[in-house]
Amino acid sequence: SNLELGSVKWSSPSNIALVKYWGKRKNQIPANPSISFTLSNSKTITELSFSKKPEADKFSFDVYFEGERNEAFKPKIQTFFERIEPYMSFLKNYRFKIDTKNTFPHSSGIASSASGMSAIALCLMDMERLLSTNEISDDYFNRKASFLARLGSGSACRSIEGELVIWGENKSFADSSDLFGVRFTETLHPNFKDYQDAILLVDKGEKQVSSTVGHKLMEGHPYAPQRFEQAHRNLAELKEVLISGDLKRFVEIVESEALTLHAMMMTSMPYFILMKPNTLEIIQKIWRYRAENNSLLCFTLDAGANVHMLFPKSEASQVYEFIKSQLVAYCQNGHYICDSIGDGAMKL
Ligand code: PMV
Repeated sequence: SNLELGSVKWSSPSNIALVKYWGKRKNQIPANPSISFTLSNSKTITELSFSKKPEADKFSFDVYFEGERNEAFKPKIQTFFERIEPYMSFLKNYRFKIDTKNTFPHSSGIASSASGMSAIALCLMDMERLLSTNEISDDYFNRKASFLARLGSGSACRSIEGELVIWGENKSFADSSDLFGVRFTETLHPNFKDYQDAILLVDKGEKQVSSTVGHKLMEGHPYAPQRFEQAHRNLAELKEVLISGDLKRFVEIVESEALTLHAMMMTSMPYFILMKPNTLEIIQKIWRYRAENNSLLCFTLDAGANVHMLFPKSEASQVYEFIKSQLVAYCQNGHYICDSIGDGAMKL
């Protein structure tokens, strides 16, 4: 192609899993299916500039993070390029500048790999569209972007579209795949409209256990087979809940999934406790609040100490009052992020 130079720009959100992905096989194939809410405010914005280079001998790119040249991200991108090259043959023909920033604070402890990897994947897909002589359908575009994002970070494949995305082959969703995420296309019950996610930042430090190490802990884990089966059952039931709007059952499935993820880490070898005392303080307070206020507020966790508080829009003003009066004390520097369920990535 004669595409000499240009640039593309995308914003891509983070996501929060309701049924957790924990454990993988070769080539970023998940050991069990997962489902997540796509977020709205927590996102990565990436601009990819490219210019043709004379020789296609190696990958050539620079990374800028929040306006400054960044060497630390380079090995991750290098690995990502190596993994996706079989599906993107033009990569070595160009020199790239990857200019990226997050809408959430750096090292806030919220995973930026999902939003970050999906944003680059989308930029590269956009470039493929520019280079292609054939029409590329939106469906193909999203699927391949998700496929590429998965090779960067598994959960990133769930960040392309909204409002809910399923990843991993399973009986409940006929079109599900291990290779990319698919949208939840059933009619979502109005109870979930604008569902809220307040992210309480308990520990903004570096992750104690990288997800690469974490997934590996599930290999030969004594409870792994039962856990993978449970994820299938929880996903099947959650599908019904998302349609029926049964928020009581939603709370049970989501909290059980979060605690199971942590239970897997506590019972692996080596073993880890990724919650902090403040994580438990917050969970206790959420449970008390729920009982006293007849509320449907619940929590979920990723592989760290931060707490995601999920609640219906109708409870928003009360819950934010609760956070301000009782929970900010447990957040590092009083820091929390207000987010809600979102529509997915956007071309800028
Ligand atoms: O995408 P990874 O490999 O960083 O795995 C993330 C796994 C969890 O965030 C703990 C759960 C999930 O499904 O997102």
